[in-house]
Amino acid sequence: MNKTVIGVLASGRGSNLQAIVDAIEAGRLNAKIGAVISDNPEANVLKRMTAADIPTLCIDRRQFVSRHEFEAAVAEELNIRHVELVVLAGFMRILTAYFIDRFAGKIMNIHPALLPAFPGENAQQQAVDYGAKVSGCTVHFVDEGMDTGPIILQEAVPVLEDDTAETLSDRILHAEHILYPRALALYCEGRLKVEGRRVRIIETE
Ligand code: GRF
Repeated sequence: MNKTVIGVLASGRGSNLQAIVDAIEAGRLNAKIGAVISDNPEANVLKRMTAADIPTLCIDRRQFVSRHEFEAAVAEELNIRHVELVVLAGFMRILTAYFIDRFAGKIMNIHPALLPAFPGENAQQQAVDYGAKVSGCTVHFVDEGMDTGPIILQEAVPVLEDDTAETLSDRILHAEHILYPRALALYCEGRLKVEGRRVRIIETE
């Protein structure tokens, strides 16, 4: 089967991207990274991927007068590289309907909570503050809402009594690194079928 070309948008540390790269190298994910794009010139993810010999580029939002122009530039780079699936991995910008429509049904995100609980920023802090006993992570398709798209996979993670946002984040991140490559592999194998809000996982023989 052909490798799916994925384009990764990331703004920071890049540990999920590293997990994706590791899964590809281990043969668990039949994909090729066509491009890594960061909106932040200082992002650690750029250094990490340049070292790993993966095509990376920075598209600095500050160099564009509007969100629309910025997103058009990102979309253009993804199209030039024949990207088939856009993977958000710690991308700190909300995408507008314009970008989402251009890649309709082909954008995935990982969120560090069990959606629909604790959407938006600081999800781990929200879980600690709320007193939740369980949180986790969610891989979902991206729609125009804030962390509202159809859910692909979720993994629960316990919240311990002494947890801070940092200790909970570390535990959730460990689960993210397993869950995201798994969700991507299902997509690349053509095993995800979206029916309204539901994402069905097609069993293999
Ligand atoms: C992760 O916690 C992810 O759930 C959230 O942003 C963080 C990115 O971390 N969307 P990293 O850059 O992949 O290390």
